[in-house]
Amino acid sequence: MTAIGTTAWVMDRCDDLTRHSARPDALERVYLSPEHAAANTAVRAWMLDAGLDTETDAAGNIWGRRSAAGAPQRPGTPGEPALVLGSHLDTVPDAGRYDGMLGVVLAIAVAHRLRGQALPFALEVVGFSDEEGTRFGKALLGSCAASGQWDEAWWDQSDADGVTLREAFARFGLPPDRVGDAARRPADLVGYLEAHIEQGPVLQDRDLPLAYVTTIAGARRFVLTVTGEARHAGGTPFDRRRDALVAAAHLVTRIEELARAAGCLATVGDIHVEPGAVNVIPGRAEVTLDLRGRTDADRDALWDRIAAAGREIADGRGVTIEHTETHRAPSTACAPRLSRAVAAGITKATTTSSDPLGLWSPAGHDGMAMAAVTDVGMLFVRCRDGISHHPDEHVDPEDVDLALDAYTAAVLALAEEAR
Ligand code: GLV
Ligand code: MN
Ligand code: MN
Repeated sequence: MTAIGTTAWVMDRCDDLTRHSARPDALERVYLSPEHAAANTAVRAWMLDAGLDTETDAAGNIWGRRSAAGAPQRPGTPGEPALVLGSHLDTVPDAGRYDGMLGVVLAIAVAHRLRGQALPFALEVVGFSDEEGTRFGKALLGSCAASGQWDEAWWDQSDADGVTLREAFARFGLPPDRVGDAARRPADLVGYLEAHIEQGPVLQDRDLPLAYVTTIAGARRFVLTVTGEARHAGGTPFDRRRDALVAAAHLVTRIEELARAAGCLATVGDIHVEPGAVNVIPGRAEVTLDLRGRTDADRDALWDRIAAAGREIADGRGVTIEHTETHRAPSTACAPRLSRAVAAGITKATTTSSDPLGLWSPAGHDGMAMAAVTDVGMLFVRCRDGISHHPDEHVDPEDVDLALDAYTAAVLALAEEAR
């Protein structure tokens, strides 16, 4: 095993985590799965090695903590507010190995680097259990629990196999009625600082390794259900058809046109057709929709236009289109206090004379939820070609080296300010 806290150790641990996957040929680790439990076990061991005491909370997030004096301490110990470092351990299907995991492993490495060093606050590291939301449709479940924003309405959301969130909790060994215990109190927190790959091409285009984040864009996610009529593919002339899939296809292309015109991002990432037979006209099509905008107002105005386009298509094709909103997160501004610390860390690590770059993040992050209970800040690390949510996701060890230095320096800058 490489020496803990080094760049090689960080890279190796990101590799290790790929073992905990639902599929032998690809990385997929969703909330409350056996792989989630296995990843938590691996991360717990690394946290212990870094001098942290550990605990899995009531929503399956894994936490580690040391006191201000530097001794291992039970996560959530009241009376000594903690700076929280971390990211998430769940993945999308056929994922890369750095989205989320890099931030958790870097946080453990930073804790190790500061091991035994007195700080004016306790230090906690968290591996959030669900940021992606790919299993139940609702994203940020782990950090919503940790920030006391659990909504009882989520319990009945189900996965592709019909397992509800409530059942999945019980199977994982978490009593659903205790989820409130995961909530952290603002008085116990100094801030939440996350390192994450950029998931876009800006740093590469600018030939820069690192940036701080200014704002995290808010997302809305929907399931759109188109209902037509399933009939014989041979016996039904076109003018008698109410084809749900063709209507959905029109809607999908309209969504892209409208999003482009609005300067927003819209993605239909999944489609399910029923009855799903080669010689039956589709009677029902369900598509997912993910919407993002630089501002919540832009994004919401786009949704209004998409809903209107849906009504028009439904009228024209004799189908109905219904929607369910599965996730909504407002955009989140990073706290200037934390962004300043991250920028100072970047300056120190990269020894450049120019000001560090600040970027807005179209991708969602756990900080969006944590902002309800504490200030949040983020450090972005360049990823090759901006590729993410794909197995080709890649970070250069040289950039990770700089990220480790910048992250550590950012924590020390906050410590300096707090003294
Ligand atoms: C998370 O990666 C998201 O932005 O969907
Ligand atoms: Mn992701
Ligand atoms: Mn992520």
